[in-house]
Amino acid sequence: MRDKIVAGNWKMNCNREEALSLVTEISGMLQDEKNNSATVILAPPFVHIGAISHFVNGSPVKVAAQNCASEASGAYTGEVSAAMIKSVGADFVIIGHSERRNYFLESNATLAKKTELALMAHLKPIFCVGELLPEREAAMHEVTVKKQLEESLFHLSDEKFSEIIIAYEPVWAIGTGKTATPAQAQEMHLFIRNLIASKYGNAIADATSILYGGSCNELNAQELFALPDVDGGLIGGASLKSRSFVNIIKSF
Ligand code: PGA
Repeated sequence: MRDKIVAGNWKMNCNREEALSLVTEISGMLQDEKNNSATVILAPPFVHIGAISHFVNGSPVKVAAQNCASEASGAYTGEVSAAMIKSVGADFVIIGHSERRNYFLESNATLAKKTELALMAHLKPIFCVGELLPEREAAMHEVTVKKQLEESLFHLSDEKFSEIIIAYEPVWAIGTGKTATPAQAQEMHLFIRNLIASKYGNAIADATSILYGGSCNELNAQELFALPDVDGGLIGGASLKSRSFVNIIKSF
């Protein structure tokens, strides 16, 4: 059975004190209330990864970065490499979030390089795909997502692809309060799993966790997580409120 995962993407929120109180609250609630085996991942801003990793060390909570550089090291002012992220205690990295694709113009080719470097550094990529609203309206959502997967991931070996977690995040649902319907989510998750199966075979496709992201919250998580091809969520806004985030984790 594939892993059930809830990852909280804190985006550019929380100073150090706020980050530490959020992780303290989440960890305390999980200790008292967690009733399933879902993997919990927190993705704070880079500057807090060391402190948060130290805090959760020895607990089941894992840490992710929200991005990594597309080069291994060198004269790239302001960038943070996958190996540096690993060295301060993270085990995962979000790659290809729509905010990186759209605001920072990260291409499928750049994201392929980031994925390679993350895997070399023994970070598990949480690789995001998803269509823009005009693409959905033009019925191009499958074409877009297929291209994202083919151009960034499908060159990987079976062994390397097996390390990947996919997050399907329709861009029109991110931070908008507008969630994909269960039918839309299931249709896209199954589409993605079938693409993986046609490239890597059924065993790898069946073992790949595919998370839903886009206005997932404590009210809709249960319905979404019950869908056969939805293996959890990548949570933005609702991951900043400990009560909501922990309720989402308990929604399997
Ligand atoms: P949201 O963000 O939950 O605030 O819509 C999801 C994401 O960007 O990963």
